[in-house]
Amino acid sequence: MQHATATGQIDSAADATLLVDEDTHRWIPGSRTIRFGGDYNPEQWPRETWDEDIRLMREAGVNLVSIGIFSWALLEPREGVYDFSFLDDIIDLLWKAGIDVDLATPTASPPAWFYRKYPHARAVTREGIPLAFGSRGIVSPSSPEYRKASRAIASRLAARYASHPAVVLWHVHNEYGTPVSESYDDASVIAFREWLRQRYTDLEGLNDAWGTAFWGQRYGEWDEIDAPRATAVVTNPAQRLDFARFSSEALLECYRNERDAIREHSTQPITTNFMAITCPSVDLWAWADEVDIIANDHYLIGEQADNHIHLSRSADLCRSLAHGKPWILMEHSTSAVNWQPRNIAKRPGEMRRNTLAHVARGADATLFFQIRAGRKGAEKFHSALIPQAGEDSRKWREAVRLGGDVAALSPLLGSRAHARVAIAWDWASFWAQDLDFRPSADLDHRERIEAFYAALWRRGITVDFVHPAADLGTYDVLFAPASYLLDDDAAENIRSFVAAGGHFAASFFSGIVSTSDDVPYGAYPGQLRDVLGLVVEEFLPLREGERVALQDGAHGRVWSDDITLRGAVTVTSYNEGPAAGGPAITRNSFGDGTAWYVSTALDGDDLDGFVVGVLGAAGLPYSPVSDIETVTRFGEDRTFVVQINHGDVPGGAGVEGVDLLTGERVGSSELLAVGEVRVVEVSSSSSDARS
Ligand code: GLA
Repeated sequence: MQHATATGQIDSAADATLLVDEDTHRWIPGSRTIRFGGDYNPEQWPRETWDEDIRLMREAGVNLVSIGIFSWALLEPREGVYDFSFLDDIIDLLWKAGIDVDLATPTASPPAWFYRKYPHARAVTREGIPLAFGSRGIVSPSSPEYRKASRAIASRLAARYASHPAVVLWHVHNEYGTPVSESYDDASVIAFREWLRQRYTDLEGLNDAWGTAFWGQRYGEWDEIDAPRATAVVTNPAQRLDFARFSSEALLECYRNERDAIREHSTQPITTNFMAITCPSVDLWAWADEVDIIANDHYLIGEQADNHIHLSRSADLCRSLAHGKPWILMEHSTSAVNWQPRNIAKRPGEMRRNTLAHVARGADATLFFQIRAGRKGAEKFHSALIPQAGEDSRKWREAVRLGGDVAALSPLLGSRAHARVAIAWDWASFWAQDLDFRPSADLDHRERIEAFYAALWRRGITVDFVHPAADLGTYDVLFAPASYLLDDDAAENIRSFVAAGGHFAASFFSGIVSTSDDVPYGAYPGQLRDVLGLVVEEFLPLREGERVALQDGAHGRVWSDDITLRGAVTVTSYNEGPAAGGPAITRNSFGDGTAWYVSTALDGDDLDGFVVGVLGAAGLPYSPVSDIETVTRFGEDRTFVVQINHGDVPGGAGVEGVDLLTGERVGSSELLAVGEVRVVEVSSSSSDARS
């Protein structure tokens, strides 16, 4: 049976039950409610402060902390000499206080002795600069000495603490890919060559894939191949793309190396904290299968007015990486960070809205960086659960209230949000599109994804992100905003999806190249010509700041195409600009489905009109444009509607049931106040009424 939610969004209770699958997906053992806590770095503090910290953690309802993330220098003060007394103490203290431990391997920050002994293990920039000690995360992922040393400390930790009852989760490293995502040191070059041998077998294959016949770049020996260092003019794009792939896999090898060392001793789940939205250098589709639980860090860009929509996008991407299963918000901030040009503090209620928005979209654990604000070092101006101002502060009172809210949400554990609309997301396409010598400096894959996502968000649509070659069978609509690189499998997958009745909407500069940044024979977009029912004879990018009027009253920016229809029909055409008189938006019937193409950058109401047209044609209801976030989580036999009012007027009527945050009944005409959140367990009669 299908239900239209309060926002008009269709959800299917029957389908959702299937999503709560039978397999034993891993979750943090011993979880009786949504987990609450943060990174805890007690080594910064004298011993007396630990007792104080634990008292405050208990007051706020903290039940999980990540420790040891940057403790390598303390745990192994000299190579092969270990001292675990600090960890022994703090883990026992936490255990006695009933606070579980997410124990980290400290390998994001090798000690000074490591760099002195192995200076060539330092990461080297594309310009050839070896990075210096005095920060963190500066090691070459391909350094054999680093791999050995990181495995050794991971193994020691696992052997010592595997059976400690407080340790419920392992946290490998910290944010792979940042601050260093690739290195041009000697070990990396050797490993890159080996990776290329595996990929291409022989030099003929490599020369062909990289198009080395152009500009005289042909290789006659493997040893002639280098990492794509800074060159006089643009570097071979296929070489750079392969180096991006290699670098992501080198980091993944580092993760596997430590994970496997831990697994030899412990059966507890193992993860690492992604930066899914903000770190472009790791292909998390490949990583997602290697962790037991998806974990993510997310920080608002304080100055962005619609940063709550960016937060939702990050959370939806994590749920997608988790294939709908629960995931951990491993880090977010209680208020300002310290690394943006202007670090904007969160206003009253904002932290609560942020945390509960992650929960709405599937996070069953929400943690902060960090428990107590630092006094020294690089991050002393970063907010924390225990602020510099201490207990007698608004922030602390908000933290305690939030801990109570999260504890009240235990009925949500394991329930799942469900999306029927997906946006194509492929890290390789980002890597390729961001290379040099593109037809316009204004092309921005990320900006288009954000624009399409925001348009859907404002219409109350929950979105999954999906690799274009992955199973699309559960979706009604797939949007592909500027999906520049589509390999042959992805193109074929999209073709089958549409042929089987799916609705597909691509924007300009999609399906242009295949695996090696190579343009298929014939007119653009070679990977999508048939499904879109058109060819693009020439790209017609617009001038900086130029806006062109379309026949339906909308305006386009950045781009237009010289389109020849090959079966598609024109939805609207250009009134002006280089493509004047030609099609701007088209629609094509392909098999049992429909494929749309929008050849220019639409914004605001214009993009909304396009998105709504696609949803309507697919038969998916959508809400009026709104600043109220509404997400439904389905349990086995219970349904929860999370609503968050990010706007400046009350709204969100149409939900009926019991608000788990207050314990009070919500009537269907009851509006949600500005800045407020409610998590309503909808009564079955009310969900039937909405069917
Ligand atoms: C990252 C890191 C943390 C901390 C925060 C600050 O997420 O993992 O150690 O530096 O940023 O925002």
